[in-house]
Amino acid sequence: MIDWKIDSWRKFPIKQVPEYSDMDKVASVEKELSIRPPLVFAEEARRLRKRMADVAEGKAFLLQGGDCAESFAEHNANNIRDSFRVLLQMAVVLTFGSALPVIKIGRLAGQYSKPRSSPFEVINDVSLPSYRGDMVNDMAFEDKAREPNPERLLQVYDKSASTLNLLRAFAGGGMADLTKLHEWNLEFVSGTNEAIKYKELASQITSALEFMNACGMTPENTAQLRETEFYTSHEGLLLNYEEALTRKDTITEEKGWFATSAHMLWVGDRTRSIDEAHIEYMRGIANPIGLKCGPSTDPDDLLRLIEKLNPLNQAGRLTLIARMGSADVYKKLKPLLTAVKKSGLIVGWCCDPMHGNTVKASSGFKTRKMDDIMAEVRGFFEVHNEMHTVPGGVHFEMTGQNVTECVGGVYEVNEANLADRYHTHCDPRLNATQSLELAFLVADLLAENRTNLAKKIVAVS
Ligand code: PEP
Ligand code: CO
Repeated sequence: MIDWKIDSWRKFPIKQVPEYSDMDKVASVEKELSIRPPLVFAEEARRLRKRMADVAEGKAFLLQGGDCAESFAEHNANNIRDSFRVLLQMAVVLTFGSALPVIKIGRLAGQYSKPRSSPFEVINDVSLPSYRGDMVNDMAFEDKAREPNPERLLQVYDKSASTLNLLRAFAGGGMADLTKLHEWNLEFVSGTNEAIKYKELASQITSALEFMNACGMTPENTAQLRETEFYTSHEGLLLNYEEALTRKDTITEEKGWFATSAHMLWVGDRTRSIDEAHIEYMRGIANPIGLKCGPSTDPDDLLRLIEKLNPLNQAGRLTLIARMGSADVYKKLKPLLTAVKKSGLIVGWCCDPMHGNTVKASSGFKTRKMDDIMAEVRGFFEVHNEMHTVPGGVHFEMTGQNVTECVGGVYEVNEANLADRYHTHCDPRLNATQSLELAFLVADLLAENRTNLAKKIVAVS
C-alpha cells in the first residue's frame, strides 16, 4: 500500500473529532490500547472478506444489524442474547426466502461512537457539546457529562471484548443450533402474526432437519446445524482507537495490516471525503469495509472512492451501503448503479433503509415509519432488478428489546405511544417484531428475484 502507515491519517483534515481537554491523557490511553490483545483475528476478517465476495456476486445475502449506538447502561447479557436471537431468526427467514447462505454481521461489540450533524446541542438557551456516543461522553445534558473523556476508549475496549466473548459462545456453543429453532422466540413476539409465520417456517425447517437426521446428518456430526458464523462491525469513526488496535498480520504470507477492533468497519456518510483522514485510514487496512452512500453521493466521486479504497478491485473488500430515503431511492441509486456497473469495479450493494428515513414526531421524538423503511427496501430491489445487478444485503438499526421507537408494523406502534419504551441512545431502532416483519418482506423480495431469475433462464434456453 503506497505511502500508507497506521498513523498516516493524522496528516489529513478530519471531521467529527471530540475536543479533549487533556491530550496527554489521550496519548496514554492510546498507548495502553496499543498493547492490549486484538479483539478479532486477521484470519476471521479474511474469511469475512471471502463471504462478502459471495455477497457481491449474488451467492450469499448480507444481514447487518444492531443498535444505532450501543451504550454502557444497556450492556448486559440479556440484551446481547436478545439481539443475537432476533438476528438469527431474521437470518433463518432470509435463508428460506433466498435459498442462499446469509452472512450475519452485528452492529455490536464496538458501535459506541456517533457522528453528529452539529457539535453543540442547545436546550432552553443552554449550549453544551453534543452527545457523541458512550465512547466519547455521557448522554445526560449536563456540563460534566458532556465533557469528552478519553478513559471511555478503554471502557469501550472492555465492553466490546465481553460482548464479543458472549457472541462467540452463543454462535459456537449451542445457541444457534437449528434443531432448537422453536426455542428462539422472544416472549413479547408470541401471539403476533410474525410469530405465527415464524413458527410455521420453523416447523418446515424442523421437518427438513428430521429428514436429514434420517439420512445421518445430525447436529452432533454436522457443525453447520449446530453453530453459525457471526461477525462484528461498527463505524470506524474514532481513528485513534482504530489505529491503536490496528495490527500487522504475522501469520500469513499476505502480511497486511488489519483493524482488530471488529471484523468489518464502515465509513459514515459524514466522513467519506476522499482527501480526508477516514478514507486515508481505511484504504490501508485489509479488512472488508463498508462505505455509506447518502443522497449527496456523486457518481464520479464514488468511482474515485472505490478505486482508492479497493485499488486491486478485489471482490469482498468493499460494500456500498446505500441510505437514500424512501422518496429518493430510485432516483439517487440508479445513477450510482449505472456508473459502477459501467466501470467494471467490483462492489457489494447493501440497503440501509434507516438513515434516510428519520423524521421528528410531533412529540419531539426522532422516529422512522415502517412504511418508509419498507418502501426503501422495495425501491432498492426494484432498481437492482432493472439494472440486473445484485441487491446483496440489508443493514438495519434494531434491537431484541420490545421498544417503541419506530412507528407502524403489525404490532402497531404509533406516535402517541413512542414515549412508552423509547430507550435508544441515538437513532430509533426496530423492535424484535418489526425486525421479523421486515425479514419476511425481504425474504419475499428475494424469493421473487429467484423466480424472475428462473424465468429468465428458461426464456434464454
Ligand atoms: C449510522 O449508521 O448510525 C450512521 C450514522 O449512518 P450514516 O453515516 O449513514 O448517517
Ligand atoms: Co444511526
